[in-house]
Amino acid sequence: MSDHIVYSKEGALASLRFNRPEKKNAITMAMYAALAAGLRDAQDDPDVRALGIFGGEAFTAGNDIAGFIAAASLGGAIEDLPVVAFLRGLAAFPKPVIAGVKGVAIGIGTTLLMHCDAVVAGESARFAMPFTKLALVPEGASSVLFPLIAGRMRASWYILSGEQFDAVTARELGLVTKVCADADVDGAVAMMCGALAELPPKALAASKRLLKAPFAQLVDAAFAAEFEAFGTALRSSEAAEAFMKFMQR
Ligand code: COA
Repeated sequence: MSDHIVYSKEGALASLRFNRPEKKNAITMAMYAALAAGLRDAQDDPDVRALGIFGGEAFTAGNDIAGFIAAASLGGAIEDLPVVAFLRGLAAFPKPVIAGVKGVAIGIGTTLLMHCDAVVAGESARFAMPFTKLALVPEGASSVLFPLIAGRMRASWYILSGEQFDAVTARELGLVTKVCADADVDGAVAMMCGALAELPPKALAASKRLLKAPFAQLVDAAFAAEFEAFGTALRSSEAAEAFMKFMQR
């Protein structure tokens, strides 16, 4: 497992924590593989009743841009990359998942939240999906989930423009359940996970299944369409230019 992802278990709660603070928790392929492995472990472990996803001062600055450059040079399909195992694992995760966000949550740092059952944001939280700025397209099934969460017009604006939004706006958009002081974020997630972990697990799992079932096919179709479009965009000359601009800042 990558040192940049810390997977831990305490009682009925499992936690996945981004731990690459020097790069604002930008996510590498090894980190996606570790995240996917953590999800599998938490899913299979009967003692785990809920999962928390955390960052540090930053939640995550999204996909590592150097990783985008490396992926663009690979010949294979996007579907074979560990990011896909992580996203599909999170979308299908059968137990409650709650994320705690402080600082930046960029790109997949925002889109992964759309698969969670609740999101707690600290006052410092800043969300953005700057796909078009990088000559990319939405990922993580956000092209279907964000319109469902926020309404089509609001989703269109934030996805097409890449404009950043804060914790209160995220709550108004429906992406965040609760806003609190940064110092209280991790505790609030642990408390909410703890409350769910006390409930009868079969009823909880059946309820989560029912909540997700109406959208499962939509999410699956969005994954497929987005991965294809993302693969094309990732290998485009305009994306290469945008990645270089970031690397040479
Ligand atoms: N990929 C690779 N490295 C990243 C990164 C990313 N997505 N985000 C941040 N980093 C690195 C920076 O290059 C810098 O590394 P260095 O110290 O070796 O130069 C370090 O993390 C700290 O980032 P920095 O930009 O100095 O911090 P900041 O507070 O000024 O800005 C961000 C933070 C997140 C706003 C800015 O780094 C950023 O815009 N990152 C890119 C986000 C992005 O586009 N993600 C992909 C979305 S699809």
